[in-house]
Amino acid sequence: MTHASVILNPLREGLTMERAAEPCALVIFGAHGDLAKRKLIPALYALFVQGLLPHGFCVLGTSRTKMDDEQYRALMKESVLKYAPDIDVEEDAWARFASVLYYLPGDTGKQESFTELAKLLEELASRHGTGGNNVFYLSTPPSLYSPTVAHLAAAGLAVKRPGRAPWPRIVVEKPFGHDIGTAQSLNAELHEVLEEQQVFRIDHYLGKETVQNIMVLRFANSIFEPLWNRHYIDHVQITNAETLGVEDRATYYEEAGALRDMIQNHMLQLVSLVAMEPPISLESDAIRDERSKVLKSLRSIEKCAVNKFALRGQYGPGWILGQSVPGYRQEKGVSPESHTETFAALKLYIDNWRWADVPFYVRSGKRLARGITEIAISFRPAPHRLFAQQLAGAAEAGNPNVLVMQIQPDEGISLKFATKLPGPTTQLRWLSMDFRYSTAFGVRSPSAYERLLLDCLIGDASLFARSDQVETSWQFLKPVLETWQEIESVPSDYAAGSWGPQASHDLLAADGRAWRRL
Ligand code: BG6
Repeated sequence: MTHASVILNPLREGLTMERAAEPCALVIFGAHGDLAKRKLIPALYALFVQGLLPHGFCVLGTSRTKMDDEQYRALMKESVLKYAPDIDVEEDAWARFASVLYYLPGDTGKQESFTELAKLLEELASRHGTGGNNVFYLSTPPSLYSPTVAHLAAAGLAVKRPGRAPWPRIVVEKPFGHDIGTAQSLNAELHEVLEEQQVFRIDHYLGKETVQNIMVLRFANSIFEPLWNRHYIDHVQITNAETLGVEDRATYYEEAGALRDMIQNHMLQLVSLVAMEPPISLESDAIRDERSKVLKSLRSIEKCAVNKFALRGQYGPGWILGQSVPGYRQEKGVSPESHTETFAALKLYIDNWRWADVPFYVRSGKRLARGITEIAISFRPAPHRLFAQQLAGAAEAGNPNVLVMQIQPDEGISLKFATKLPGPTTQLRWLSMDFRYSTAFGVRSPSAYERLLLDCLIGDASLFARSDQVETSWQFLKPVLETWQEIESVPSDYAAGSWGPQASHDLLAADGRAWRRL
């Protein structure tokens, strides 16, 4: 990570960091797990290098594996080198970071572990000046969330003290519940010991730079918002396509499937950002209120009509980037009769003044042809089509202006419009006006976890899911989840490396539309 380009790049002039993290200890449960190694520790180290961590700060990792501080530090250094190659690990800087990194072996099933934890946190508070503030990050299997919260409360570590030091905060990873019932119970358990402002439910999509830019694009500019409604927008497509398969997560994924894994959280949060009204301020609840209203306005899907609005698929064997790959049912840990969907698509409507009858098509799938996540806003055709004839031969003739917010991998925004080919005749072509983060700013985009961890240390919950949002999205998906569970039919197959099951193309074809070619 270099800072020279930050100073030299004129586009970054005047950018300041006015928000400051509060002193605290960050406790990571599941400190030896994949998330800690791949995301959390690299993100913390990146924040440290940028000088964004508070003066009074330390990290305490805990999990069942027996090891001491030095062994944990060495392991975490390896992880940063392996998983965050864009971050320079200089010996000096690492040594300073490692000096605030601790490890405590413990069992989240046992109250004694929490008594020990409370004692160590007291010691660390005086050694590092954390002021007794604690952030507890639950990076464990979801079955451990409830017992951990209960044990924290019993040890006096989780108490209702929002905003007044010493405060505790809890970060909960996804999946937040398995359905509406389990999400409500988990919320109730959390609210018994903490206020909502102390609970930070992670949805890492909200921490992505391009996702945060959706609000900026819409509300810091005056040119898009007048068009951002049913009068000018024909429909919206949101795609999350992954080339990856289930990898080594079969145990989790078999229970989850694409609808729970991606749509309930990440995709519906994207829908809410695209469709929300301007908040009255940037205060976290003002923003979350607006996102929440969108989710509450989603038109319910009747159980008898699920097939018209939702579909699923499962990848079979195929080819990804020139390599042959097995089908989902042949993956390690997956049942050969599995009904779990690896692809899900929905057509949704938002029943409010702005969006009445504008379809939002959302799809997410594994082992698709390309890895790409984007939001495409398709505008209506010009009302009087003067150039219809000249456009007739051009690709996508019937699908005119599109504003694409590319979330990944090539982060940016493109606007597609028709233009005249040079020459004596009037021939039209569709062109794209592009903005790319990589070329415009010349600095690396912080990882989603960097942003979210920092926000949590600051106490800003804008980019976290609130209890009502989580419950509303589970409630919305309930008829789909139930129908898919009741009808034990196998989801339609699609070949790995394709663009998903035929049914997904049929969903749009029925409305005279098609998915964009990505
Ligand atoms: C996670 C899902 O939340 O998001 C994964 O559990 C998925 O299945 C991942 O692969 C996608 O995240 P990203 O940031 O790679 O798009």
